[in-house]
Amino acid sequence: MSDTNNTLVDAVHAPTVKLETVRTSRPADTPASNPATLEADSVSAWFGDHKVLEQVSLSMPARKVTALIGPSGCGKSTFLRILNRMHELIGSASLSGRVLLDGEDIYDRGRRITHARRQIGMVFQKPNPFPAMSIYDNVTAGLKLGGIRAGRDDKDVLVEECLTKAGLWKEVRDRLRQPGGALSGGQQQRLCIARSLAVRPRVLLMDEPCSALDPTSTRRIEETIHELSEEVTIVIVTHNMQQAARVSDQCAFFLAEQGTPGLIVEHGTTRAMFDNPQDPRTTDYVNGRFG
Ligand SMILES: Nc1ncnc2c1ncn2[C@@H]1O[C@H](COP(=O)(O)OP(=O)(O)OP(=O)(O)O)[C@@H](O)[C@H]1O
Ligand SMILES: [Mg+2]
Repeated sequence: MSDTNNTLVDAVHAPTVKLETVRTSRPADTPASNPATLEADSVSAWFGDHKVLEQVSLSMPARKVTALIGPSGCGKSTFLRILNRMHELIGSASLSGRVLLDGEDIYDRGRRITHARRQIGMVFQKPNPFPAMSIYDNVTAGLKLGGIRAGRDDKDVLVEECLTKAGLWKEVRDRLRQPGGALSGGQQQRLCIARSLAVRPRVLLMDEPCSALDPTSTRRIEETIHELSEEVTIVIVTHNMQQAARVSDQCAFFLAEQGTPGLIVEHGTTRAMFDNPQDPRTTDYVNGRFG
């Protein structure tokens, strides 16, 4: 790995912007943060009879940021959607294998789909706030869907806390009643992160969350990811190798060669994946030689 990349990996572990202290009172039905370990066990996936993932196993430990990297079409988004039961919403989609949240299979027959969704949140490539809804209401929008009751005072606390954690509070505290759609792209993405945090997920999945953002907004989101990793397990898909090096503790390299289903070629600590990859395809990919 080049010196540049070494510097990038070092930068991950340097302290970044500190979170403001937030008040500790919480809506009654929302426990303190409790990040979970997520484990994929031999996950394969199909769209119709087209197999797109082959026996993917990966542990995504609590309090760590896991980056999923690999060329377009290798199944990263499909894998991410399987991790919170969104894959099954697509008519032709099927899967095999298990996804364990602190050891319990989210696909067990007795488990409700909403249970997995509440515990495993998702932030998408394109920020998707409710544009006409106020910033305040955007943050609390998930509570009702998640079956969480909260009074006005509780909501006020929660809105401040989640916007603070998402790194947006200072920018919006004087205009909480303005529409979410009036924010910049980077602010909208942080609003979406705040909205996800409001239901206190134990895992947060992020699919290329910065790909539509400018470098400054990207940095701000990366700081947010770094700050959040103590309280929610983060799994992020990124095409940006510098970003993977900056924000993640471990990486998994996905590849689908010549029409074969995507699989994990190699995974390990981010430092090892960039400094000392074991597979020549990983070396080529992290050094930008394909994909
Ligand atoms: N809804 C769908 N119906 C049918 N095939 C799909 C669907 N979504 C994805 N696929 C196929 O599944 C494979 C994996 O796609 P996926 O979107 O997971 O890749 P990706 O690694 O996220 O790519 P990118 O980096 O471009 O986002 C591709 O061959 C894709 O064409
Ligand atoms: Mg994708």
